[in-house]
Amino acid sequence: MDRFIIKGGRKLKGAIEISGSKNAALPVLMCTLLTDEPCIINRVPDLRDVRITIKILEELGKKVSYDKGTVTVAHKHKLATAVSHDLVKQMRASFWVAGPLLARFKKAAIPLPGGCAIGVRPVDIHLKGFEKLGAKCATERGNVVIKAKKLSAAKIILSFPSVGATLNLMMCAALIKGTTVLENAAREPEVDDVIKALQSMGASIGMDEHGHIIIEGAGKLSGMNHTVIADRIETGTYLLAAAATRGDVLLKECNPQHNEILLEYLREAGFNIETGESGISISAGAKKIKPVNIKTAPYPGFATDLQAPWMTLMCLCAGAADVSEDIFENRFMHAPELVRMGADIIIDKTAAKITGVKNFTPAAVMASDLRGGAALVIAALCARGASEVERVYHIDRGYERMEEKLVGLGANIRRFNPVSAE
Ligand code: UD1
Repeated sequence: MDRFIIKGGRKLKGAIEISGSKNAALPVLMCTLLTDEPCIINRVPDLRDVRITIKILEELGKKVSYDKGTVTVAHKHKLATAVSHDLVKQMRASFWVAGPLLARFKKAAIPLPGGCAIGVRPVDIHLKGFEKLGAKCATERGNVVIKAKKLSAAKIILSFPSVGATLNLMMCAALIKGTTVLENAAREPEVDDVIKALQSMGASIGMDEHGHIIIEGAGKLSGMNHTVIADRIETGTYLLAAAATRGDVLLKECNPQHNEILLEYLREAGFNIETGESGISISAGAKKIKPVNIKTAPYPGFATDLQAPWMTLMCLCAGAADVSEDIFENRFMHAPELVRMGADIIIDKTAAKITGVKNFTPAAVMASDLRGGAALVIAALCARGASEVERVYHIDRGYERMEEKLVGLGANIRRFNPVSAE
């Protein structure tokens, strides 16, 4: 298993380009199941989760090629309606095949999803929505089996603005004739990007002034040529890495509007932030880091995916800061590892109390999920001396060429595989 060896203590300096968004690319790739026509998707990051999604599309019957960030998806043979457990267990987003397959073939069988171990993460909101559209859902031998005689457009009120459920239901309703309305839907920029992709396939879909998603289903959708938005979580992670190392960094090809609350909090913490149309610069200066309390919330609130990297920054604040995780119930697995690096964090259920320390101390630590892994990398970049971050495969799920980008900013980081080095 790969690990990162990081010799920390250097301020990050320079400029890097942000990649296409993982969380937009994955559902846009799933949208290709809604048509037999060819689809071209640009700015797709080269990530483990993308490669799993491509394998899922191939297993279902698509012909897929990936070249320099462009994925081309073509019809090969009639699509299957079941996915193997081997693929689904690796990535929770696999469950997004359900909406398109149900819409096209009135049935889908999907093993209960895996992915990051950051909580229970059920799929009840997805299933209740499918039932509203006329499907029957059952669990049989670890598989969710969804079937319908007839699907009909409906009004669906989500009990929570789940990103995954919003996307699954949008994709399904795009092929069901009539008007489907999703109330209390997720408003994340990735949802907007999928709306744009579906529009380019000929779907009539949009968000009204109340945030309801209105879908006028079409019987058939065409292919698409779509370019994925910038990754706001990657953007946020590098901003926080620059901040924690007291660096001076320019992030290019990103969208500052998608990170507004993070930028506001970084300014509050004392960092200088400048934004342009597609760039963000951050510089730390010599001031102390002010404590800022955060609470994760659905967009436009503070992203749960940035909670762990934010915690790393607050470990270095002058004073004490609170972090409240209100989206996932088990998303503090990075905290004990940060404590092993000298941080002072007390966890009480979904609340963390952080008292700032002068710096992290180098250590060997283990990533146990994607964003928690990024938080540990940031801590190691700050600690003076050599740290090791194990289980880099978690980080590879969501950060394209992380070590290369960090080296571009002056970091001393390398990938090491103890087995292949023997
Ligand atoms: C997506 C993102 C993930 C991000 C999360 C919240 C992808 C691939 N993943 O995950 O990075 O952290 O949004 O912004 O885009 N829930 C239920 N029942 C359901 C669905 C969700 O109870 O049927 C709960 C979950 O357990 C969780 C919360 O709702 O506590 C948020 O989940 P959701 O918004 O669905 O996140 P994902 O789509 O899984």
